[in-house]
Amino acid sequence: MSAFPSVDPIPLPAPVELFKILHDATLSLHFIAVQILIGGLLVATILGFLSRKSSNGTSLKKEAAKMLAVKLPVVMTYVINLGVPPLLFLQVLYGRSFYTSSVLIGVFWIAVIFILIGAYWHIYRYSGGFELEKALWWKGVVAWILVIGIAIIYSTTMTLMLRPEVWQKMYATSAYGMHLPPSDPTLMPRWLFMLTGGLVAGGLWMIWIGSSKNVVKEAGEYLSRLGGYVTTAGVIINVPIAIWVIQSQPETVSKALSTNALCKIAIILWLISMCSILIFGIWRGFGKSEIIPSRYVGFGLIVVEILSAVVIRDIIRDATLIEKGFDVMQRVVVTNWYVVGIFLISFVLGLIAVGWLIYTMAKSKPAAQK
Ligand code: HEM
Repeated sequence: MSAFPSVDPIPLPAPVELFKILHDATLSLHFIAVQILIGGLLVATILGFLSRKSSNGTSLKKEAAKMLAVKLPVVMTYVINLGVPPLLFLQVLYGRSFYTSSVLIGVFWIAVIFILIGAYWHIYRYSGGFELEKALWWKGVVAWILVIGIAIIYSTTMTLMLRPEVWQKMYATSAYGMHLPPSDPTLMPRWLFMLTGGLVAGGLWMIWIGSSKNVVKEAGEYLSRLGGYVTTAGVIINVPIAIWVIQSQPETVSKALSTNALCKIAIILWLISMCSILIFGIWRGFGKSEIIPSRYVGFGLIVVEILSAVVIRDIIRDATLIEKGFDVMQRVVVTNWYVVGIFLISFVLGLIAVGWLIYTMAKSKPAAQK
């Protein structure tokens, strides 16, 4: 008997490939925001701690911490809102395994809402501390711990959904969702991959903010240069962890990956983007030249890097599930093209609106400078 619950009686209203494209595109946006949050909050908190004794405006570290911290509540809104679309596509495609895993660790899964509220509150308090002239760096520490706590719950759920062999025993042990799954060799590398990716995206985000025309030149240069160091360190740490992610996969999955053409293309793209990010980070952090690479290059590179990583992640998931008897491509599809058309038009309009919001936010000036 299959460990997966029976198939949903309603067929999919659009081709699986379309759902996958939408899933991967929106999940990439979510991951960009998540990694900026993880890396940006960490650096902002460390800078806040190091400059805790200096008064406002007297220290470049404090100025840089403030420049990052005041933007973090906005980053958090992107993390949350950009998490909703992939959640919907995930449920449509993989509901049978995803619901099972989230119910089995239900207490932790529901706890995400409360941990998220706590993290958000601490981020607001930390960034507000700069206006109040109070050194609230420890609120940044609490927020960061809560954020990486949410990340481990997500990694646990997304790993458990690939392990139908442990579901029965977990449910028999307790039906209250209070037990975590037995250990899995793939969990730690995938969680660390997301965390250390935060240094890469967070570093590029620092370069982005520091290179803005709206910031004080000296502080902007300091932040950009520091961003270059953080990006460089991020790539150096993240690449071995990515190799660990691949090595921790079972042999059948590794074999499936090595024969998948899309996976090969995604791996090549990921490596090229990581090498380019490394050069970009070194150039911005250590370069003496007057010619400074455009921050848009960094942005483009992180999009390619995260999109290719998401595609590889998706292929790993499908290969693992096929091995366990769930092939998402076998879902029954009855396409309603009229509805699909309306959906795609609204989707594109939504993306344009988000782009416009980001553009407006990037161009905005603090009230004092208007
Ligand atoms: C501070 C808040 C958040 C953090 C730190 C965070 C972090 C993460 C991480 C690390 C993963 C990858 C897990 C893995 O595969 O190992 C993930 C996946 C995901 N997150 Fe978030 N997340 C946050 C908030 C949210 C919210 C609020 C939503 C939805 C409303 C959301 C939706 C998702 C979805 C749907 C996935 C996985 C999609 C898939 O596997 O297909 N996240 N998140």
